[in-house]
Amino acid sequence: MVEDVVRPGEQRAAGAGGQPAGPAAPFEGVGIDLVDPAVEASLRSMLAAVEERLRNTVLSADPMVTEAARHLVEAGGKRFRPMLVGLSAQFGVPDRPEVVTAAAVMELTHLATLYHDDVMDEAPVRRGAQSANSRWTNSVAILVGDYLFARAADLSAELGPEAVRLQARTFARLVHGQIAETVGPRDGEDRVAHYLGVISEKTGSLIATSARFGGLYGGADRHLVEALGGYGETIGMAFQLSDDLLDIASESMQSGKTPGTDLREGVPTLPVLYALASEDRDAASVRLREILAAGPVTDDALHAEALMLLRESPALKRARETVRSYAEDARERLEPLPAGGPRRALESLCDFIADRTG
Ligand code: IPE
Ligand code: IPE
Ligand code: MG
Ligand code: MG
Repeated sequence: MVEDVVRPGEQRAAGAGGQPAGPAAPFEGVGIDLVDPAVEASLRSMLAAVEERLRNTVLSADPMVTEAARHLVEAGGKRFRPMLVGLSAQFGVPDRPEVVTAAAVMELTHLATLYHDDVMDEAPVRRGAQSANSRWTNSVAILVGDYLFARAADLSAELGPEAVRLQARTFARLVHGQIAETVGPRDGEDRVAHYLGVISEKTGSLIATSARFGGLYGGADRHLVEALGGYGETIGMAFQLSDDLLDIASESMQSGKTPGTDLREGVPTLPVLYALASEDRDAASVRLREILAAGPVTDDALHAEALMLLRESPALKRARETVRSYAEDARERLEPLPAGGPRRALESLCDFIADRTG
């Protein structure tokens, strides 16, 4: 049963009747420092409007499609991309209705990729609920993901051709990242460089566009939109790097996902690549390389051993430093933006991401 996977005190509590409790209150999942009450109030009302738009947009004439499409909307999630749209819009006129539409387009696009990604990664749990592939079938999850893309495209048309083009190009980049991850590096290609390229395409792309959309549809100056896009790309990479670290370092379902999935599926992430490249001769490092070099770690005992060794490894420490350096780079990209509450909130996102991996 879906709710069995959520334990008390973890990502969210199950609601009455064992149903998913719905999205966490705004900012709960993403620790930003909203010292400016005006920014906080504006963001809260914008995010509430986004929730309504999401719920209405996924409705279909077919009740089964509605149920499957609503499944992950209602399971929650951090709403990181809508929040970034809302914060970026603060550099223009944040209460424009287009800002809500732009945020819903970004979240629906993200959501669609999650339906597909969980098929690719054979993930059983998402947002503390059963993944769609596991609750229904791979075919249903893929088709519902397609339906969500179609709904996102429909919404983006309300914003005009530039939004449609930007959303389509962003999605093409994201898909290239997913394909590059699936195919792996070419012979002789540096594995870390390949991984960094993958996360820039699969994750940096949509987070950069979220920041850009906020600036664009809030009507911010062009040079600010550019700065926001650069920030989004870099914080997006830090976000994915930290997510990959949490897959190793978290001991529970705190993330709403099953830890250790990357290792089990053989998806190489930075700590694993650093461990494989290390020349340390101590017994733990040698043993870790031996397990990792054999490919996906599907045996339960080996999986537990590899996770334990990785958690204690210098490779994990080094990967944490890499997250910090991307978060710092993102902060520097905020330089062209005017000082004040919105910029401080974006800066605090850098701290949140750098700190969330321990
Ligand atoms: C999950 O994204 C996929 C990654 C890019 C790591 P989020 O961590 O934003 O997932 P939700 O939206 O909160 O579920
Ligand atoms: C995240 O994929 C990026 C996209 C879904 C496009 P991952 O496979 O790295 O993320 P999680 O860990 O399943 O959320
Ligand atoms: Mg995945
Ligand atoms: Mg994946």
